[in-house]
Formats: sequence, C-alpha cells, structure tokens
Amino acid sequence: MSIVIITGGSRGLGASAAIECAKKGMGVVLTYKSNPDAAADVVSVIEDEGGKAVALPLDVGDSASFPTFRDRLLQILREVWDRSDFDALVNNAGYGLYNPIATVTEEEFDGLYRVHLKGPFFLTQALLPLIAEGGHIVNVASATSRVATAGVAPYASFKGGLQVLTRYMAKEFGDRRIRANSIAPGAIKTELGGGLNDEFEALLASQTALGRVGEPEDVGRMIASLLSDENRWINAQNIEVAGGYII
Ligand SMILES: NC(=O)c1ccc[n+]([C@@H]2O[C@H](COP(=O)([O-])OP(=O)(O)OC[C@H]3O[C@@H](n4cnc5c(N)ncnc54)[C@H](OP(=O)(O)O)[C@@H]3O)[C@@H](O)[C@H]2O)c1
Repeated sequence: MSIVIITGGSRGLGASAAIECAKKGMGVVLTYKSNPDAAADVVSVIEDEGGKAVALPLDVGDSASFPTFRDRLLQILREVWDRSDFDALVNNAGYGLYNPIATVTEEEFDGLYRVHLKGPFFLTQALLPLIAEGGHIVNVASATSRVATAGVAPYASFKGGLQVLTRYMAKEFGDRRIRANSIAPGAIKTELGGGLNDEFEALLASQTALGRVGEPEDVGRMIASLLSDENRWINAQNIEVAGGYII
C-alpha cells in the first residue's frame, strides 16, 4: 500500500485529497493545525469506507517543530503500516489574507511566508530521508501567481516561489526518482480567507470557461490522480486546476 502525507488535511482541498487518495487505496496521514475534530471527521470518513488514515497535529509555520513531527510520523508509519518510509508528500496547508500592498504589515507578510514558502521548503527537507525511492511531492500553489488579483500580493508571490521551488525539487531529487509537481487551483469553494461571498463567486464564475468556481473534489480528485502511476512521467510541472480561469 502506498502512503501519502497531506498537510492541512482537516478541511477544504486537503480533506478532499485525503478522501480521494484513500479511495484509490492509499494509506493517509493528514495533518491539522487548530481543528482536531475536523481532522477526526476526515479520518472517520476514510475508515468508514474501508481505508486507513491517521491525523497528526502540525503547524507548518513553525519549522522548529519539524524534527519532532518527523519522529512522530516515523513512529506512526511503523506502528500502523509497518513501514519506515512513505511515498508521497502533499504540501497543501495554507491560509488566505486580503490586504493590499499599501497596507500589508511585516507581520502579515512574514506569517504568509512561513506557511506558504518556508514551511514547504523545510518540511520537505526534514521528511526527505523518509520519502521512498520513486516517491512524489505535490506542492499546492495558486492561480493567483498567473493572474494578478488585487489584495493578495504576498500570498501570490510566495505561491509563485513555491512553483519555482518545485522545479528545483524535481532537479535535486531526480536521482532518487522522486518527482515533484505543483498544482495551481483557481477559486475553490472552501473556507480559505473566510470563504467566497455570493457576489465574488458570481464574478469568478463569469471569468471561468466552465462557468462556475471549483469544488474541493475538483482538486482532491486531481491530486489523487496525479499521485497515481498513470501520471508517473509528469515531473517538474505546474498544473493549473481552475476550469479555465481567465484564459
Ligand atoms: N480555496 C481556494 O480557492 C484555493 C485556491 C488556490 C490555492 N489554494 C491553496 O490550497 C491550500 C488549501 O486551502 P483550502 O482552500 O483548502 O483552505 P481551508 O479550507 O481554509 O483549509 C486549510 C487547511 O490548512 C490547515 N492550515 C492552515 N494554516 C496552517 C498552518 N499554519 N499549519 C498547518 N496547517 C495549517 C488548516 O488546518 P486547521 O483547520 O486544523 O487549522 C486546514 O486543514 C492552501 O495552500 C491554499 O493556499 C486554495
């Protein structure tokens, strides 16, 4: 059984990816930051359908905690799956913040940087020894790096950096046959940044070729598919998952 670690798997895209990966027969370790109950619900959904999942706490903005997380993860891998490695890492955890460049604070900037760029960098570094040969890393970026959306400049800049980092991961980890791709969702109906109001959702839908905003499953299924062997030759790419947003 292959095993996937999904950060921010308690809600939204990460929760959907966890459920869809389990449906494909993968063992799942999902992380949460502040919602243990939501994480437990995702584990229940997976186990009710015959899958296996474990939820662990992790603050992706706190890189000092990563060695402890790695030790706890290794313990879980051994206890639950009798493995000392895993197959795929999905760096998904994140949050949204609306504030134009003119007023964004250093604290807001640094917080977004820690979660969206520094966190995936050092979490991947910490977990790299545990990623099996032929494994896969998926970094969740954003379509806001292609289409400038006023009010999210630091977030979009770090997501752009994450796309560049992805290509470097593919370059440096290729000798272990580990592939790395980023995906760039468009607007998806989750609680990110407080969720979408009706007016904004209608605007985004009108800017999307398929005429609606995305649902978490639109991305969760894509992540599960990208991890599968059918897509094993896709490497070092950024793939937009946005229904044709502003094309
Ligand atoms: N929704 C969109 O339109 C959209 C578009 C493009 C990209 N994205 C990206 O997709 C990813 C998932 O977003 P989402 O829409 O699913 O958001 P969401 O519904 O708000 O869920 C966010 C998830 O990330 C976790 N999280 C937040 N801050 C964290 C931290 N510091 N450390 C660890 N975990 C943390 C949350 O855990 P707790 O609930 O336990 O705190 C939750 O599981 C993010 O990277 C986001 O930037 C989303």
